[in-house]
Amino acid sequence: MLTAVSKFRNKSGLASTTRVMPFFLSTFPAHATAAPLCPPPSPYPSPHFRLPSLPRRGLAFLAAAAPPRALPPTPRQAMASLATSTAAAAAAEVTHLSQRDAADIDEQLMGPLGFSVDQLMELAGLSVATAVAEVYKLSEHTRALIICGPGNNGGDGLVAARHLYHFGYKPFVCYPKRTAKPLYSGLVTQLESLAIPFVPVEDLPQDLSGQYDIVIDAMFGFSFHGTPRPPFDDLIQMLVSLSVVGDSAKRPPIVSVDIPSGWHVEEGDVSGGGIKPDMLVSLTAPKLCAKKFTGPHHFLGGRFVPPPISSKYGLELPPYPGTSMCVRIGKVPSVDISSLRENYISPELLENQVMPNPFDQFRSWFDEAVTAGLREPNAMALTTVNKAGKPSSRMVLLKGVDKQGFVWYTNYGSQKAHDLSENSNAALLFYWNEMNRQVRVEGSVQKVSEEESEKYFHSRPRGSQLGAIVSKQSTVISGREVLQQAYKELEQKYSDGSFIPKPDYWGGYRLTPNLFEFWQGQQSRLHDRLQYSQREVGGSTEWHIQSRPKLARQAVKIAVMLLVCLMAGATPNSHGPSAQDVQPLCSMVSSL
Ligand SMILES: Cc1cc2nc3c(=O)[nH]c(=O)nc-3n(C[C@H](O)[C@H](O)[C@H](O)COP(=O)(O)O)c2cc1C
Repeated sequence: MLTAVSKFRNKSGLASTTRVMPFFLSTFPAHATAAPLCPPPSPYPSPHFRLPSLPRRGLAFLAAAAPPRALPPTPRQAMASLATSTAAAAAAEVTHLSQRDAADIDEQLMGPLGFSVDQLMELAGLSVATAVAEVYKLSEHTRALIICGPGNNGGDGLVAARHLYHFGYKPFVCYPKRTAKPLYSGLVTQLESLAIPFVPVEDLPQDLSGQYDIVIDAMFGFSFHGTPRPPFDDLIQMLVSLSVVGDSAKRPPIVSVDIPSGWHVEEGDVSGGGIKPDMLVSLTAPKLCAKKFTGPHHFLGGRFVPPPISSKYGLELPPYPGTSMCVRIGKVPSVDISSLRENYISPELLENQVMPNPFDQFRSWFDEAVTAGLREPNAMALTTVNKAGKPSSRMVLLKGVDKQGFVWYTNYGSQKAHDLSENSNAALLFYWNEMNRQVRVEGSVQKVSEEESEKYFHSRPRGSQLGAIVSKQSTVISGREVLQQAYKELEQKYSDGSFIPKPDYWGGYRLTPNLFEFWQGQQSRLHDRLQYSQREVGGSTEWHIQSRPKLARQAVKIAVMLLVCLMAGATPNSHGPSAQDVQPLCSMVSSL
């Protein structure tokens, strides 16, 4: 029997106990903004959560249990922690909630903590949509069928459908038992206003594979127990048969919201014949049954519950990265590298659209990368080659570019510096992933003047100046503590704000280019490449542009011409092909 939907909200999100990322000393000098030495002050006035006097039970624990609030990481620190947080989440023991605790938390949230069910549903649905979008790329999984139950789990599904629509997916909703409450009818109206189709159960094909690219199971949440009633019993069976298709590449993945529908909230898939989702988005905290989840993608969603709840229930949950509404928990699936493929869609890069001078062209692309908000668009791979011909690459930051060349700063005792002293030829590579663009620059490298290095050194924050002194690049040190200790001592030494002299072993390099290549990714691997090389014209050096696809086209033209000639020679008893024979080939060649 399907019990009445819990009077409590059965989905909610719970912010993790936020961990402050450690602040590391920069070991390379050119990161001007790197290495703050102490955490920023808390933006919150008080570490303790104070509640107004509230009449309900449970208030005592809230006041008593509020822990000192950890500082939330800035989005950037948190992004940096993404990889570690995922790994940490996999390794650490994540709290799994019993049905009772989950219900209790909802009661607290919607009681003394002042949340409404609408708010929690909105955030839960948004978490589901963002988790889905993180794993199932729009380009391959456009059509999403969301099967919604009568309660809050179904409401989360309706909200997720709306967000997926706005993310660019094409949602279809199957909502057979509508709940006659303003919250739910409002959600339905919102979906209707977006022309999202509501699919009756009878219209669903027995095999969902052909029509949908993802199926989201938002039928029952943690308040469910008993046996699913029609039509949900059949819908669950439909998903069960979908999940037993052997080749997962040939069927739409199943995403379960909070609990795989039909599973026991604490025991899991008791009969063994239930849905086997590919992805589970746990809300608030995983429920006990999530321990039995064996699919490749387990996410946690919802990000709004205050520390008193974490403290009261002893919740151990991973921190959310950056501004994300979801975080992966569990093991990161091992990826089939050969199947990773992006189809680039970008404007054409044509010879007549670019500037005659490659420095101007670079500047224009660089400014576009900055304007697009890319992270560190000035990061570039620098490849040097030593005298034995051994190449090595590493990232550095571009700190200046003009018609003289590309400038970066480093330690003159580093390996790159050593290579450059033996061989001044080097290559730079910029890759702006989000714009499908790459720029290669090759040329020869010289040190910039001491004056130029001095000027740049003193324009940097004092912390970065000290970092440059401490950092002994390309040498093995006995531990991070050594660097930290040295840094501390220097900090002490210059604590009076006095002038910090630039060390001799630190300064800039300038690469003077003799070749540029601008690359713009295009669909089906037919990328555009424009190369600028130098040539002598009337005693002066000029930049000359060549388009790689054009070269390829010219090669095809020549091949076709050759074919025509061969045909002419091969025609028996004739003086060659007639004008009529050759005409189609000629028009083809000239259209290339
Ligand atoms: C995004 C990024 C930017 C970097 N920028 C610089 C830089 O501007 N200068 C520098 O010396 N090292 C920089 N580094 C560190 C270098 O990649 C490298 O580890 C270090 O310079 C030692 O290289 P080497 O031993 O090959 O000389 C950067 C690293 C990253 C990931």
